[in-house]
Amino acid sequence: MKKRNLLSIRELSSDEIEELMKLTEELKKGKKVLEGKTLAMIFERPSTRTRVSFEVAMTQLGGHAIYIDLGGSQLSRGESMADTARALSQYVDVALARVYKHEELEEFAKYASMPVINGLSDKEHPCQALGDLVTIRQKGKKKGKVAIVGDPEASVASSLMLACAKAGMEVTAVCPRGYAPKEEYLEETRKSGTDVHVVHEILDGVADADVIYAASWKPGEESEKEERSKAFLPFQLNSKVMGKAGKDCIVMHALPARRGVEITSDVLDSKNSVVWEQAANRLHVQKAILAWLLKQK
Ligand code: CP
Repeated sequence: MKKRNLLSIRELSSDEIEELMKLTEELKKGKKVLEGKTLAMIFERPSTRTRVSFEVAMTQLGGHAIYIDLGGSQLSRGESMADTARALSQYVDVALARVYKHEELEEFAKYASMPVINGLSDKEHPCQALGDLVTIRQKGKKKGKVAIVGDPEASVASSLMLACAKAGMEVTAVCPRGYAPKEEYLEETRKSGTDVHVVHEILDGVADADVIYAASWKPGEESEKEERSKAFLPFQLNSKVMGKAGKDCIVMHALPARRGVEITSDVLDSKNSVVWEQAANRLHVQKAILAWLLKQK
């Protein structure tokens, strides 16, 4: 059987997403289905949630995780991703990588004999999106409308858009004029029968949403910082915006949040906010991802 990776939500069918949702619930019962298995975790970029939740997931499943930071490995001295993948394939059963460039992840996965998981690249954050689907369902919003507010090209936004569309939800990208979701992601959502709406007025975009998700935006290069800040700051989730939203809507953010930038503290800490449930569900869904990829169900 050909090994599976999880580099993108594109690789998952709607049925497989449902399978992962069910497995997430099953594994909460504490089954140790990965005894004797080892996960290698490569981080080119900083992380709190992804690193700790994957390590704890392996421990709770009866396995073991090894953290490899860039500076402490031969990657920092120029060993290629391909050779690193070949070497790690001799020792571990599954690998996770957080990289700057998605192509590096694809190169790593091509030469790895074990399943490879995307722990965030410049294209996608599939583990975050799957954990967020668990949270959305826990909150009774499975059939709801999702408004993704902020940068529609952010990795989290791309993965979430696809995951929600494949799970049958209606998705709206709420963003400044001149910005839009990446075309390849729009095409993919259309394949699952969902047209992503694009709305440029934030108050219209959140008005009938059941789920309001703040997608943080990067400041960008020095030359574009001022322009991006001017464009995205009016798309901040604050009390004025929330005044237009339904009282039962939930507010989501992948974290870490820049309080006072893409979301204000009063909204992030409000009763509508489910950000800590989101962080918790990273652990639960990642157990399912690990077990599913290793076919230990
Ligand atoms: N949301 C998320 O991936 O958090 P970390 O950057 O802390 O891993």
